[in-house]
Amino acid sequence: MTVGLASHFAGVSLDPNDLKAQQKALDLVLQDFDVSAERMGAIVDQFNSEMRKGLAAPKATVAMIPSFVTGKPTGEETGRYLALDLGGTNLRVCEFSLLGQGEYKVHQQKYVISDELKTGDMRNLCDFIADCVDNFVTENGSDSLESNLQLGFTFSFPVLQTEINRGTLIQWTKGFNCTNAVGKDVVVLLQDAFLRKNVNVHIAALVNDTVGTLMAHAYKYPETSMGVILGTGTNAAYYEKLNSIKKWEGGAVAFDDMVVNMEWGAFDNERRVLPLTIYDNKLDRESINPRQQIFEKMISGMYLGEIARNALLQLVDRLLLFKGVSSPELNKQWCFETAYMSAISSDTSEDLEETQHILEAVMQIPSTSLMDREMVKQVCIAVGRRAARLSACGIAAVISQQGSIGQDTLVAIDGSVYEFYPNFENDMTQGLTDLFGEKDGSCVRFALARDGSGLGAAIIAMMSHKAAKLKAGSL
Ligand code: BGC
Repeated sequence: MTVGLASHFAGVSLDPNDLKAQQKALDLVLQDFDVSAERMGAIVDQFNSEMRKGLAAPKATVAMIPSFVTGKPTGEETGRYLALDLGGTNLRVCEFSLLGQGEYKVHQQKYVISDELKTGDMRNLCDFIADCVDNFVTENGSDSLESNLQLGFTFSFPVLQTEINRGTLIQWTKGFNCTNAVGKDVVVLLQDAFLRKNVNVHIAALVNDTVGTLMAHAYKYPETSMGVILGTGTNAAYYEKLNSIKKWEGGAVAFDDMVVNMEWGAFDNERRVLPLTIYDNKLDRESINPRQQIFEKMISGMYLGEIARNALLQLVDRLLLFKGVSSPELNKQWCFETAYMSAISSDTSEDLEETQHILEAVMQIPSTSLMDREMVKQVCIAVGRRAARLSACGIAAVISQQGSIGQDTLVAIDGSVYEFYPNFENDMTQGLTDLFGEKDGSCVRFALARDGSGLGAAIIAMMSHKAAKLKAGSL
């Protein structure tokens, strides 16, 4: 792929040989991030085979975790429920009033989780969460509503679910790394903290954010068949036929389908088909979870900035960018944020002023030429486009597993990368067209389900609470 920058900048007071060398180096970097339609096809095939393995037996790379959520919400669910959302950038505590007909009201509060809490003892994190919930219910007056508040807990990490409100943490992702948590039941840990702190809240459901997003969207649009997160991390959940979940040992359930939490971030940890570059390998090696979550590391917001940073620094080191001069800011791991890439990718000003601001004022690069800025922009666009095309591969694999290629499919998506990265949705659509052809590709619709996981968790808590009451004969 060639972007004719050298000719565009001919006439600018730069050595034409330098420009040529820059152009050549840029072309090679852009090529590295290109994912051909053929490669995408191979990725989808591999995805499908990994999905079948995950459905057949535990401990597969793509874990395919049964969520215990069956059936679709009718949209008529009503009542007041709490939801707790842990796993993105913030902790969110919400109170939902489900009003029926797919309508609801919500009060919510966000709390920042410090790096210390993210990597300290799990007990401290649970105590912090319990304090936040306590503060929230007191301030909202929710504590006076019912003697025992029911809560849906969105915990967006790989958890082996053992009941609708039970599950053991398989591993941490996205920069969390608390001790004394892996292998433990996270609901028990949090419920114990509520008890310790006399917070009168019962955890009625444990929910992955993808499952929550799917259920929240299905509350209003029952035809929704898939929930995807493209944010700090990435993952997807979808309705699977129970008889295809060969490893299911939970006995008969009232419905034919169950929502499966794929944990697709771990896809191809074996590195069979993903087009990894030297920039990805460096990121992975220096991360706190090397050789894990490889797919997530190529797609999600936590990592895109770092991939781009690695690519830019390589150009700097070869004296082909910023005249070979970096800055302490650009040299620092994780310091080139994905949000900067979004702003740079969408900079259409003639002099690339926003890009200049980010590079010179924020990243403290002493000086940048227009050619430098254009190169940075092209790298950002290429890293984002690759992420979108790989996301399309995951979605295509699910549609193919569901046997619905060519049928109308509604995919609910949440997350900052999907919502804010310029052109992300178009690039995903183009990816699906490359895979399925124009006609079948256009059957897939994406819908933004902003903050859906909280609502989904409240709906699932409601369904679970109602089921428990029915069982106990009190309904
Ligand atoms: C986690 C998933 C989660 C996804 C999106 C991943 O790192 O493993 O459980 O759904 O991030 O938040």
